[in-house]
Amino acid sequence: MEVIIKPTAGDASLIAAKLIARQIRHKPTSVLGLATGNTPLDTYRHLVKMHQGEGLDFSRVTTFNLDEYVGLAPDHPASYHSFMWEYLFKHVNIKPLQVNIPNGLAKNIPEHCREYEDKIRACGGIDIQLLGIGGDGHIGFNEPCSSLSSRTRIKTLTRRTIQDNSTFFDSAEQVPLHVLTMGIGTIMDSRSCVLLAFGTRKAEIVAKMVEGPISAMVPASALQWHEKTTVLIDEEASGKLTRKDYYQWVYQNKPAWQTAEIES
Ligand code: F6R
Repeated sequence: MEVIIKPTAGDASLIAAKLIARQIRHKPTSVLGLATGNTPLDTYRHLVKMHQGEGLDFSRVTTFNLDEYVGLAPDHPASYHSFMWEYLFKHVNIKPLQVNIPNGLAKNIPEHCREYEDKIRACGGIDIQLLGIGGDGHIGFNEPCSSLSSRTRIKTLTRRTIQDNSTFFDSAEQVPLHVLTMGIGTIMDSRSCVLLAFGTRKAEIVAKMVEGPISAMVPASALQWHEKTTVLIDEEASGKLTRKDYYQWVYQNKPAWQTAEIES
């Protein structure tokens, strides 16, 4: 797990976008794992700018989103389908058939989840997975206590997540109780992960994820076991890390070629 602390969320988001853009340029048929929520919004803005200004080409890219609410039609304004088209897909040249988001209206949920997993495998697996983190340590919608080897399935949101996500709805009562989410095992199979976390609100859970024990009670802590995870945070989210100086020291003293792989 590499921890990179940048002064602002904007700086960290630019690096996330550069990592994704680098992946696409290196392999135009890349498979991206994507997240929704407030955290990745700036990253998507940067990717849109890179497409419009630098010709970043999404035409051969395939995407898989982490999650979707059960019972919301794709065109519901708070669905993750709507979110992704609004903030990324409609602004770039991605082919709609290469966009994959769990179907919250699937009739046979277990079968749909198995097919989602099969499709990820058939596409060669996820090259780079973008992640946020919930205040309770969830990644995707793998709430505390999720199996660390779980696959795509239905989950029940915690009261806290319902409250946190209610900003995308008119009221907390409208947030669906159930979601479909890639499992922690699914996320762990990605060849690389980039996790973003911003603000003091995330400081405590970031410290638990990075420096606490690996535990199903903090699902994101499973990433300590992942071969290539970059945790990109702002100053505020770094406030509770005990080894913050060391992470900064490592970053400042990277060989130039390593810095270039991240920042260029
Ligand atoms: C959304 C997702 C969630 C969010 C998390 C943080 O697709 O996978 O794990 O990343 O709930 O949400 P924000 O970014 O709104 O704080």
